[in-house]
Amino acid sequence: MIDLKLNIDGISDFINREEIESFKNEIDLHFNRIREQTGRGKEFLGWVDLPEKTSKDFLDQLTEQAERVIANSDVIVVAGIGGSYLGARAVIEALKSHFKSNHLSFKQPEVVYAGYNLSQDYHSELMEWLEDKSYSVIVISKSGTTTETAIAFRFLKEQLENKFGKKEAKNRIVAITDANKGALRKLAGEEGYTTFTIPDDVGGRYSVFTPVGLFPIAAAGYDIHRLIEGAYNMQKTLMNTDDFFKNPAFLYATLRNVLYNKGKVVEIMAHYLPNLFYLTEWWKQLFGESEGKENKGIFPVGANFTTDLHSMGQYIQEGKRLMFETVLSVDKTRKNLKIPKDPDDFDGLNYLAGKELEQVNSMAEKGTTLAHIDGDVPVIKFSIPQLDEKTLGELLYFFQMSCALSGYILDVNPFDQPGVEAYKTNMFGLLGKPGFEERMKELKSREKKSPKL
Ligand code: PA5
Repeated sequence: MIDLKLNIDGISDFINREEIESFKNEIDLHFNRIREQTGRGKEFLGWVDLPEKTSKDFLDQLTEQAERVIANSDVIVVAGIGGSYLGARAVIEALKSHFKSNHLSFKQPEVVYAGYNLSQDYHSELMEWLEDKSYSVIVISKSGTTTETAIAFRFLKEQLENKFGKKEAKNRIVAITDANKGALRKLAGEEGYTTFTIPDDVGGRYSVFTPVGLFPIAAAGYDIHRLIEGAYNMQKTLMNTDDFFKNPAFLYATLRNVLYNKGKVVEIMAHYLPNLFYLTEWWKQLFGESEGKENKGIFPVGANFTTDLHSMGQYIQEGKRLMFETVLSVDKTRKNLKIPKDPDDFDGLNYLAGKELEQVNSMAEKGTTLAHIDGDVPVIKFSIPQLDEKTLGELLYFFQMSCALSGYILDVNPFDQPGVEAYKTNMFGLLGKPGFEERMKELKSREKKSPKL
């Protein structure tokens, strides 16, 4: 039994059963392509049975190494970008306290992130902040050559070596990269860093259940055994449920495509808890990078409610009708907090006195969902009982499978990302990277042709 629940009441005004059923054969076909590894990008289907294949011994080994890192660090810097950092961040931020790094009873380091932007101020201020701290670095890059990550790691490595000496610095670096290829693998071998491998058949955005996600999550003090247990639970359910209406991944992939074909080209992933912000960022990458190609694809955006109801809420309610909404709802909060009664009722809030703040939040969710449906925005709702490693494992696996199916329905390869090379080639040309001279010339000639406005 999985904990994830799918509620499709909010699409009943927009889609009928026949429209959903019309996708049944297609879903069967694509599901078999995933099972039998015969579809587009079939060489990147290693994520499908990863939860099942991940042994307890391997998780113990990761946890042990993570504990070694925790033991001598107050701070852990995770350096990576895109699929090489978002999964870990999604889980860590969903579980951590908003205001202190160690809300569990055992020692938990603070986790900060680097190498996911090229901001000089960000990295300079990070280094200043780290200067008087005991820290370790987890550097993650499958290619081992991603510019953002490599530059951040160059800074961090230099600072660690200056601060702790070369020998001690090596003990404070863990590299997660390709088994054989890339500059990071070569350096890690030469320096003798602890390393973990990213399997060849798993792409970045599907890699949260490899050491890419598992190691930083364990180093943040969370239980990766439970995360994999949740993922495996979902894997078994999705892989063994052929009944179209009982398989939530079949339904979600189908609903997205039915709505897309009706002109709903934007999907808003909405949540009502600030600690789901990075889960939404992960989801955005997963679907955006998997589907947005060949001039097709649903544009995925995130909405943090109720915050964004005071900004984007206006557009969602009354702007151009091009979106549907997927709500991620969590039944139980970690804490209890009742609204106090005020003798003067100075703000008129005594009608809420004695109620949990969560009751207000869930009425905001209900009220918003109904308003959006009235405003011609179909709403799909997912709920989980609480935020913990197991439910997150379920959820992440669920979205991966749904995304693969949905991408196949769209007739794209959900496992490549040719479009992300365009900015890199230009950047390398503009920076004068050896081998990109032609690009530089081409870009320079375009500068001269800029129209005068
Ligand atoms: O999903 C992807 O493939 C990308 O987001 C990559 O993970 C990202 O570009 C980082 O690449 P790498 O791990 O090679 O540094």
